[in-house]
Amino acid sequence: MNFTKSTTLPESTDACALKASFLLEAEAQTQHLAQVFAQLCEEQKAFDLGWMIYLKGDLGAGKSFFSRAFVQSFLPEQKVKSPTYALVENYQTDLGTIQHFDLYRLCDPEELEFLAIRDLLTPPFVALVEWPTKGEGVLPEADVLIELIVVGEARKARISACRERSNGFVKKLTEKVGMKFGYD
Ligand SMILES: Nc1ncnc2c1ncn2[C@@H]1O[C@H](COP(=O)(O)OP(=O)(O)OP(=O)(O)O)[C@@H](O)[C@H]1O
Ligand SMILES: [Mg+2]
Repeated sequence: MNFTKSTTLPESTDACALKASFLLEAEAQTQHLAQVFAQLCEEQKAFDLGWMIYLKGDLGAGKSFFSRAFVQSFLPEQKVKSPTYALVENYQTDLGTIQHFDLYRLCDPEELEFLAIRDLLTPPFVALVEWPTKGEGVLPEADVLIELIVVGEARKARISACRERSNGFVKKLTEKVGMKFGYD
């Protein structure tokens, strides 16, 4: 993986071939989506491939909430704190490491080098990245993009597969999740 080469971030799901959106009327639905998402990551060998999962959305949209539920799918008793100040928290699972980034406070993408990002992003790992645009140019491109949108008291999650190697992911997610979905 080349970390110095500039990579193009998908600005929206339009940049991605396959997308689906899910209405999450309560936190329990977000938890369920994250659990199914985690099961599929296991099935798709996402740790061995070192998938990058970008989480976009406004402050309070639910990026950390989703990430916590994802981590706890593998490690049920695990405390998951927001990495806002540390920038990254790591969780060891049987499949590899979950690297949970929150880049909100990153001033310059080059600062990621101080975190020894090459070592952090050595498979087997899956990275969940909140505020990925802050790392643009240094961060590897997304395999899956999750956009969380506040809809009154509820949330909408728009999920897109952004690379060929993650192509079947969204279709499988819609089949497995047992939740109504749309394409908006
Ligand atoms: N359906 C839902 N899914 C997820 N969170 C929800 C939902 N409904 C309400 N919430 C609430 O929304 C908040 C989401 O906060 P969270 O810290 O996950 O946001 P964030 O996107 O990580 O924000 P930040 O950019 O500040 O890191 C939580 O307080 C959570 O309880
Ligand atoms: Mg957060």
